[in-house]
Amino acid sequence: MRTRVLLNLTLALTLTAVILFGCEKKEAGAAEKPESKEKKKMSITKESFGQTPDKQTVVLYTLTNPNGIKAKITNYGATLVSLETPDKNGNFADIVLGFDTFDGYLTDHPYFGVIVGRYANRIGKGKFVLEGVEYKLATNNGANHLHGGIKGFDKVVWKVEDVKTTDDTASVKLSYLSKDGEEGYPGNLNCSVKYTLTKDNELKIEYEAQTDKTTIVNLTNHAYWNLAGQGNGDILGHELMLNADKYTPVDEGLIPTGEIKEVKGSPMDFTKLMTIGSRISQVTGGYDHNYVLNSGGGKLALAAKVYEQTTGRVMEIYTTEPGIQFYSGNFLDGSITGKSGKVYKKHYGFCLETQHFPDSPNKPQFPSVVLKPGEKYQTATVLKLSTK
Ligand code: GLA
Repeated sequence: MRTRVLLNLTLALTLTAVILFGCEKKEAGAAEKPESKEKKKMSITKESFGQTPDKQTVVLYTLTNPNGIKAKITNYGATLVSLETPDKNGNFADIVLGFDTFDGYLTDHPYFGVIVGRYANRIGKGKFVLEGVEYKLATNNGANHLHGGIKGFDKVVWKVEDVKTTDDTASVKLSYLSKDGEEGYPGNLNCSVKYTLTKDNELKIEYEAQTDKTTIVNLTNHAYWNLAGQGNGDILGHELMLNADKYTPVDEGLIPTGEIKEVKGSPMDFTKLMTIGSRISQVTGGYDHNYVLNSGGGKLALAAKVYEQTTGRVMEIYTTEPGIQFYSGNFLDGSITGKSGKVYKKHYGFCLETQHFPDSPNKPQFPSVVLKPGEKYQTATVLKLSTK
């Protein structure tokens, strides 16, 4: 009797299992289509990234597009932590220098992927006059002010304003209120940065700011790129085109002299695709210069194109800004170990910082960086990623 009950039970269980297994299989089969459709959508995931020493929580968003491109953004410094893109054979690599964990971003690193502000780049002697008043900023680069000062926008926690996906985009909008007097700047500046990844393999960065007192603003993203993959050698073999016939020569402190010079016939000329390394030895210290874009700024126009032959990766940069700082990673010296244990040596990354010209507050001949109450600062930069 017991044996029979057991036998029946076993049979019943087996039958149930078969039915369930069958159903499961069927369900999985039925779910296959919507699932693969699901994979083709724009998506955003959120995870904790860490905590600042003053216990503010920092998060990390991963924006993914249907082609598998992933952009990781943290609200600490509104930083682009990584950008994974395919090469010509479909192999993905992260093309942005940086750190695997939040601790790295708390160290004194050279602005990996961050948003710099309130004024990106240098202001000579950290001083400027606005409406008859002289303002004295923090000097953190010799005698000069660099990238917003001692605690710039790269070292603060931004507020998460909006996280959104549409059929074609995935975006994260972050905001920061820079108080009147912060690092010496006048006016409460309310600013925001919105990163949008599109289904067409673009990463768009939109900046906005408003003030309650006349001030100066110049915001940019300071990502270091290596299209062969972060940590995979130097960038001297990358081909670069800058849509600029002119640049702003600098003094020993990298402050523009005020002159606007033709690039023609000099190692500064990137009007046609040229390898970064081809003439770098003729440029004292390497490239760290502002190029005057032919577009003149104001409308979204092609500013730069970069091509890396071994991987076939291409990055085009469009911007509404009138200038772009081309920095060839001259100060990287192997003292920083970044993602996956990669050591960042000299020229292991390059930056293309879309911007207004350095030291504009002291150079009336340069496009103005003044923002008045009631006005809206609005700029955009788009990175188009492809392969060839
Ligand atoms: C900018 C500057 C460089 C350097 C880096 C950070 O791009 O132009 O001179 O300071 O930031 O190391």
